[in-house]
Amino acid sequence: MHIGVLTGGGDCPGLNAVIRAVVRKGVSVYGHEFSGFRDGWRGPVEDDARPLGIEQVRGILPRGGTILGSSRTNPYKVEYGVEKIRETLERRGIEALIAIGGEDTLGVAKRLTDEGIPVVGVPKTIDNDLGATDYTFGFDTAVTVAVEAIDRLHTTAESHHRALVVEVMGRHAGWIALHSGLAGGANVILVPELPFSLDDVIKHVESRFATQHYAPILVVAEGAVPAEGAEVLKSGERDAFGHVRLGGIGQWLAEQIEERTGKESRAVVLGHVQRGGSPTPFDRVLATRFGLHAIDAAHERDWGKMVALQGTEIVRVPIEEATRELKTVPLSRYAEAEVFFG
Ligand code: F6P
Repeated sequence: MHIGVLTGGGDCPGLNAVIRAVVRKGVSVYGHEFSGFRDGWRGPVEDDARPLGIEQVRGILPRGGTILGSSRTNPYKVEYGVEKIRETLERRGIEALIAIGGEDTLGVAKRLTDEGIPVVGVPKTIDNDLGATDYTFGFDTAVTVAVEAIDRLHTTAESHHRALVVEVMGRHAGWIALHSGLAGGANVILVPELPFSLDDVIKHVESRFATQHYAPILVVAEGAVPAEGAEVLKSGERDAFGHVRLGGIGQWLAEQIEERTGKESRAVVLGHVQRGGSPTPFDRVLATRFGLHAIDAAHERDWGKMVALQGTEIVRVPIEEATRELKTVPLSRYAEAEVFFG
C-alpha cells in the first residue's frame, strides 16, 4: 500500500520519532511505500510531497520539530480543499493517510474519514489536552524545559528579592503549568480552568516575601484569566481554526504585583522554547510506540482510528474520542498543588 504521512498544527518534540517508526516498520515489516506531505494539510491540498523511505528517516529520532514541516492549514477553509486532497491522492496512487496532529488536525482527519478518505490519527500536542490518551508526546519535553527555567529563576529571584512570573503555554488546559509548577516548587500556579482571584495571588506573594529567604515564583498558563477580567490577548489575530494568539498574562500579573506590593517583579515568557529542541527519552519512547501502532492500524485498514496511551498500553480509539472534549485539569488535581501556594 502507498501511504501518505503528514504532521499538522504546532510542532512538537517527538514528531520525527513517530515518522521514523511508521516508516521503519511500514517498509521493513509490511513492505508499504510512503510519501511525506509537506506542511500538514497544505501538502495534500497543494500536492506537495516527497518520497519517504528508510534513508530519509535515518538519524531523526532525537531531532526536534518535524522533517515534514507543519502548518495550521485547514482544508475545510480552502476552496475545494477536500476535492483537492482526493485528486492528489488519486494522482499519486496514495490509498491512505497517517495524520499526526492535535485537536484541529485530528478533527479534519475524522471529517475526511467520514467522507471516504481513509485516515489513521496519531495524537500530538505539548498541551496534553487531548481526550482518550493519558499523555501526548511533547508534553514531557515541554515540562522539562519549563522546570529547568523555573529552577534557574528561583536563584535570580532570591538574589534580587523579586517576584518572577513564568508564563508557560496552555491555551485551554493548564497541564504544563500544573506539572512544571509542582515540579519546580512554584508558590502560585494559575491555569485556564479556574479563573483566579488577584487578591489571593497578592496574599500568596506577600506571605512568600515575608519568609525573608525566598522570593515568589508564579507559574501562569497563557490562557489563565483573572476572575474579574477576560483573557489577556496578545493580538486579535486568528488562525485557520479560529484560535486567537494568546500571551501577555505574565506581564500583566507582574505589573499588578509591583503596583500592589511595591516589590519588584519580572515576567518571563517561555513561549516556543517549550516546543523546540530534542524530545526527552519519555517522549521518544511514547512517540515511537505511537508510530509502530499507527502503522499496524493502517496495515489492517482500521480507518478513523487513533492510537492512544491508556495506562502503559497503546490502544486504538475512534478519532472523535480524542477531539470530542478537551482534557482539562480537574479541579481536584489543581487543589493538590494549592497546598504549596504562598
Ligand atoms: O497547541 C500547542 C501550542 O503550543 C499552544 O500551547 C499555544 O497556545 C499554541 O500552540 C501557540 O501557537 P503558535 O505556534 O501558532 O504561536
